[in-house]
Amino acid sequence: MSEKSGSGPSGFDRRAFMAGAAGSALVPMAARAAAQDANVSAASDPALPVDVTLRVNGKDKRLHIDARTTVLDALREHLKLTGSKKGCDHGQCGACTVLIDDRRVVSCLTLALAAEGQEITTIEGLATDDHLHPMQQAFVDNDAFQCGYCTPGQIMSAVACVKEGHAGSEADIREYMSGNICRCAAYPNIVAAVKQAAPEIMKG
Ligand code: FES
Ligand code: FES
Repeated sequence: MSEKSGSGPSGFDRRAFMAGAAGSALVPMAARAAAQDANVSAASDPALPVDVTLRVNGKDKRLHIDARTTVLDALREHLKLTGSKKGCDHGQCGACTVLIDDRRVVSCLTLALAAEGQEITTIEGLATDDHLHPMQQAFVDNDAFQCGYCTPGQIMSAVACVKEGHAGSEADIREYMSGNICRCAAYPNIVAAVKQAAPEIMKG
């Protein structure tokens, strides 16, 4: 007696069972996928934009950005504050140095999301009205730059260096400014500038 393929004496149809089983397996898979789609959020997918408010130079700036955006890219690409420079983008040159809550950080390695709620100060925020910050003035007075590309980072780092109490000697200044590279090798003039500005900054 011929037997329908896959059908046994009990009437059990293996093909029908497989189709049913596959179908019943697919339903929950599809349901899960739909649920996942519905639940995907910016927090779980870093490629999705998020809302963040950065306080930059005393002003709140609302941004809608990729969650992976660095402070440096937020400043340069989204807020058009291009004073902070991108040298290496790897935390090695110091060109991107800004102050966050008065601490110097390399903004190319700092996520904008992590800086929310903190005070970010950039080179654009140092001068007041028509007056250069004492460190800016000292860099001008001492001719502490050539091409100027590293200069914003040098100045921000120098301000923090002084406030940290690390500008008491030339050796200290060289040591604590060593994270800021100057390809033009303006180092002697940079040290002179930091020495000049230190007393005025410490006076407040
Ligand atoms: S650009 Fe950030 S350390 Fe070089
Ligand atoms: S002034 Fe040119 S890199 Fe420093």
